[in-house]
Amino acid sequence: MSDVWVDVGSTGDLNDDEPLSVVAGRHRIGVYLHRGDYYAVDNVCPHAFAILTDGFYDDGTIECPLHQASFDVATGDRLGGPAPSGLACFAVRREGDRLLVRLPEGAE
Ligand code: FES
Repeated sequence: MSDVWVDVGSTGDLNDDEPLSVVAGRHRIGVYLHRGDYYAVDNVCPHAFAILTDGFYDDGTIECPLHQASFDVATGDRLGGPAPSGLACFAVRREGDRLLVRLPEGAE
């Protein structure tokens, strides 16, 4: 088995202010556009169950809607708040106007 690239949507489905929420395999993933690049990170807050794309997003910082933990969209690093860890990151590839996210082996 090897990693699998999954089509998660069109570049027109998101913009700098509005991320895209997708379910791919066993993962809930948030796809973000930040300064011309696309990023994909876990969409469930590691503190408690909250969908991060329902929260606030501004200039590369994701803020959880429940208790305001914040994360770096490019690295997944926790920037502040009560979350015990950062977010897993997924590779993103663009093919024309389609966005593909790489799922780890066995996660599809
Ligand atoms: S659920 Fe995200 S900070 Fe508490």
